[in-house]
Amino acid sequence: MGITYFEDNKVFKLDTNRSTYIIHILGDEKFVSHVYYGHKLDSHKLNYLMLMGQEPVASKPMDRDRLGFMSNFPKEYPTAGLGDFKEDALSIRRKNGTFAVGLNYKSHNIYKGKKALKGLPHAFGTEENVTTLELICEDAPTGLEITLNYSVFEDTDIIVRSTTIKNAGNESLYLTRALSAAMDFDNDNYDILTLYGDWAKEAQISRCPLTYGKHGVESVNGKSGVTYQPFIAVLQHNADQDKGEVYGMHFIYSGNFLANVSMVHYEKVRMVMGISPYNFNWLLEPGEEFQTPEAVLVHSEEGIGGMTRSLHDFYRDHVIRSKYVHKKRPVLINNWEATYFDFNSDKLVSIAEEAAKSGIEMLVMDDGWFGIRNDDSRGLGDWFVNEDKLPGGLKPLVDRVNALGMKFGIWFEPEMICPVSELYEQHPDWAIALPDRKPACSRSQYVLDLTREEVADAVYKMVYDVLKSANIEYVKWDMNRQLCDIGSATLPPERMGEFHHRYMLAVYRMQERLLTDFPDLLLENCSSGGARFDPGMLFYGPQIWASDDSDAIERLSIQEGLGMLYPLSSIGAHVSDCPNHNTGRTTPFETRGIVAMAGTFGYELDITRIPEADRAQIPGQVKRYHEVNHIVRDGDYYRLAQYSENNRWDAYMSVTKDKKEALVTYVRVINRVCEKPVRVKLKGLDPAKTYTVEGEDRTYTGEELMYGGIVFDTPYGMGDFKAKMLHIKEK
Ligand code: DGJ
Repeated sequence: MGITYFEDNKVFKLDTNRSTYIIHILGDEKFVSHVYYGHKLDSHKLNYLMLMGQEPVASKPMDRDRLGFMSNFPKEYPTAGLGDFKEDALSIRRKNGTFAVGLNYKSHNIYKGKKALKGLPHAFGTEENVTTLELICEDAPTGLEITLNYSVFEDTDIIVRSTTIKNAGNESLYLTRALSAAMDFDNDNYDILTLYGDWAKEAQISRCPLTYGKHGVESVNGKSGVTYQPFIAVLQHNADQDKGEVYGMHFIYSGNFLANVSMVHYEKVRMVMGISPYNFNWLLEPGEEFQTPEAVLVHSEEGIGGMTRSLHDFYRDHVIRSKYVHKKRPVLINNWEATYFDFNSDKLVSIAEEAAKSGIEMLVMDDGWFGIRNDDSRGLGDWFVNEDKLPGGLKPLVDRVNALGMKFGIWFEPEMICPVSELYEQHPDWAIALPDRKPACSRSQYVLDLTREEVADAVYKMVYDVLKSANIEYVKWDMNRQLCDIGSATLPPERMGEFHHRYMLAVYRMQERLLTDFPDLLLENCSSGGARFDPGMLFYGPQIWASDDSDAIERLSIQEGLGMLYPLSSIGAHVSDCPNHNTGRTTPFETRGIVAMAGTFGYELDITRIPEADRAQIPGQVKRYHEVNHIVRDGDYYRLAQYSENNRWDAYMSVTKDKKEALVTYVRVINRVCEKPVRVKLKGLDPAKTYTVEGEDRTYTGEELMYGGIVFDTPYGMGDFKAKMLHIKEK
């Protein structure tokens, strides 16, 4: 059982395979306090860590110094206005204008399994691998019932937290801040780890020492990225890929978020994760309930790599629902970088014909097939086929592609509307805008007000009709701008502060509908590349387009950052043509193939026009993908070296769970003379097993490969932008 209640100490002990989390119900007023999170323990008697009565850290909840106590005792879910001046998890606005709210334990439930969250993406599991604790708390003056939910996924060292807030009183009030999780602990020479980015430069890793003050990342643009990932971790200053303690929080949500860590006197640290309070003002009428999204808590004693592997297993087994999660995805060819908007059926079929000869399995038709969309200045919202480009509609095209033995996929951007479109002519008020201000266009588009059911229904119906019109097996769901000018023509003023969250709920509802109506669909989410790459979207589609930057070298740091959190099988990666459209760089076709193989793998080029020498490599690359994808898709991922740190070379590997096979990738970015040979020590193998290494006659023991390593490069070695991928097998 992953969760036990010890009546003697009023303690809840939550255990995963390798970590323990302890909550204590404190004193007569039953405050919910945080005692411990870390290495797995047998003991539950750790209340002494709270240093009760030992000034100045925490004194007793006595009347003379109640404030000292309220301010200092470590909390599970800090609330506003009652003397804790650090970051709150919950704050309200009552009719009388006050904002204070409290939290006192009332009762609890512990059960095997986990409930689904209605309308929100969420983690799932079975009665065998998840246990849930519901800590039901109350705030008597307001009548709020606040349930802290904890689900323990023992097999992956993950604890998932969320909060359910019910107005069980008789006064309507607003939630002005309702985060998903908070955690108090003492500093231990910690650093902070976050991910930042931009268009074509997603998921860059940032690490800096934790100092006094508030540090964190936030999104207020209506989606999770691209400025930051909805993730934060603290880790010991000496922690690296293999050792040291790491505490991470990740968010199963795709809209505005707040993730921060603050440190105050006595090096008290608080970490929080939840929906950003920016324009968050949720009216909770008597009887109504608000459910926060889920925060994922991970603890690792094996450094960043340990955290990565826990998260990968967790997302693959407990968040990504798609039946394709553990399956090989079809190798696709996408026409975006091949043609942009300039294509027709014949052009697409010519690409498909050539692709089929090379073993490519699916053609994806990107932006530009509908309405008057001949460039990015018009047409979004008009989800009907442009018959000038695709004569006779979609079916004849899809039939021709299918006749080549290939699947067919299509691009949509259902959340958007262009001011130059039929849809806008008919429904100008469907775009998000403020009545008395000029709205900001971005890429010539506005965002549709999907919080209005009639808008979401009408758009969904158009998408549905297109998908029903032919044999379409894959959808790329794009979303190419941020949300601003926030206002809905139909939300009442008292609910306008609900807009951002309601928008996300509407997007989730549409994707749920899509998957219910088309259960076999392979859905790839996208947002100008990876601007909405988050665990929430993974609940709907098993893969997300990582970046519009397909340059193999730029991709190293993008895929390193994403791979730190997300399974490689979820990272959309394609081979594109050179000079690269973003960087102008030319890299060998082989390197592009090897780098894309650490993701979903596909092509994004005009196969009819690339150099013959490149085209000739495609059948071999596709064959290779089929041989090794199971290792990348379901294996354990280890970082061996980071080009983002050493500026010269990159290396990583995946190992099957049974340790019988591994795939090692080495990319030499910049060559330098007179450097020592690059010896890469492998990880995660069985030291006692004997392995063959691709291209070598001799065998090695796992021990030799892990401690002796492989020499990949010598001083006058491979040259710039070169890559090697080695398949290692047990003999
Ligand atoms: C942004 C995506 O990231 C690209 O792959 C492509 O689909 C374009 N949008 C199309 O407009």
